[in-house]
Amino acid sequence: MSKLWGGRFTKATNELVEKETASIGFDYKLAEEDIQGSIAHVRMLAKSGIIDAEEADTIESGLHKVYDKFIQGKLAFSDANEDIHMNIEHALIEEIGPVGGKLHTGRSRNDQVATDMHLYLKKHTESLIVLMNDVQTAIYELAKQHTDTILPGYTHLQRAQPVSFAHHMLAYFWMFQRDKERLQDSLKRISWSPLGAGALAGTTFPIDREFTAEELGFNFVYPNSMDAVSDRDFILEFMSAASISMTHISRLSEEMVIWMSQEFQFIELDDSFCTGSSIMPQKKNPDVPELLRARTGRVNGNLVGLLTVLKGLPLAYNKDMQEDKEGMFDTVHTLTTSLQFLAPMIASMKVNTARMKEAVDTDFSNATDIADYLVEKDIPFRDAHEVIGKIVLHCIQHDQFLLDLTLADYQDFHPAFEADIFEKLKPASVLAARKSTGGTAPDAVIRQLNQAKTFID
Ligand code: ARG
Repeated sequence: MSKLWGGRFTKATNELVEKETASIGFDYKLAEEDIQGSIAHVRMLAKSGIIDAEEADTIESGLHKVYDKFIQGKLAFSDANEDIHMNIEHALIEEIGPVGGKLHTGRSRNDQVATDMHLYLKKHTESLIVLMNDVQTAIYELAKQHTDTILPGYTHLQRAQPVSFAHHMLAYFWMFQRDKERLQDSLKRISWSPLGAGALAGTTFPIDREFTAEELGFNFVYPNSMDAVSDRDFILEFMSAASISMTHISRLSEEMVIWMSQEFQFIELDDSFCTGSSIMPQKKNPDVPELLRARTGRVNGNLVGLLTVLKGLPLAYNKDMQEDKEGMFDTVHTLTTSLQFLAPMIASMKVNTARMKEAVDTDFSNATDIADYLVEKDIPFRDAHEVIGKIVLHCIQHDQFLLDLTLADYQDFHPAFEADIFEKLKPASVLAARKSTGGTAPDAVIRQLNQAKTFID
């Protein structure tokens, strides 16, 4: 088969080289964007008088036919045509004849592939923003029902102070808010148009880059053609944002796995998100959060992979850059499906409020509050801390909790204790006392929920 660039060559390409240098095996995913970019380009060629209007119409309708064939799975791709750009151009020429060869006037595959990647990532970033919003909505709806559900809050995975389940879940709401904002911000740079940069130096034709940028929904034209064809920052930014978001997803997943263990039993994930064991009939495994936790690894790997590909590359385009694609596609797919899993998994999980209550009733997470109680009686915090440490030790030695002691017991440790200490130590009072902005008291969490609501649509 003759190559689109075959003129300069006297020998056929080595078979393995042809197979391994071809990117069509994965960049066929850019077909839609490639055709979209070509349509904008051909309209510009006609508008600028570079080719005549009739030829441009023929090319544009030919591109539509090629697209229809692609959608119907009837477009035959070949390694000999290397990549999506040449496969489509080849199909176009087959469809409409030699006039199809005019499409590539004033452009190169270098600005073409960069354009396709920008378009692809713009589309997917926009839908990822919607998916993040869906996860936030699921968290918000769940949190709304649990402002009075108390569970132990942990530091070092040791029980620390009681918090509401709403408060705990809303922590993730804000992580996804930042993730969403990172993607929104990256859209500014994803929307730079490389089209018209040519191979690296621009073109001799009187092209109109502003026109194609506008046709494609981009809002800025790369001011430097060499930068335009060799920039992959927008992919790195996307991959970094994706890694951070997967990190959040992995943390939430880990909590779900822990919470669903026999030891915790704080939640139960819906059957539809779990699987069984082939040998142990009693098991219900939280496979989905486990996989989400693990997939952070591949997304991080894709980021490090591309950083490494780009490191030390001279200007401008280098074939190395073809290695940007599979990782990017994988990251888009992984983050997309992870978010798609997460929203319904959160919405359908059962929250075991009784078990959470049992946990706070049998721990010392109210200890800080006795210290605060003594502080209110004008005892320096350091002294109070010491007294409470002794009380806790006493309880541990006598297999008791703070609410099991009598007033006389308390007064043995410090004369300032009065009968109101017991009310103070109830988990609900401990929670309600933390009214500070961003705190876990139901009142504060309701304010937080109202604020959260303004961040989702
Ligand atoms: N398949 C190539 C890529 O993905 C397209 C650009 C090829 N340009 C070239 N001069 N060989 O990077």
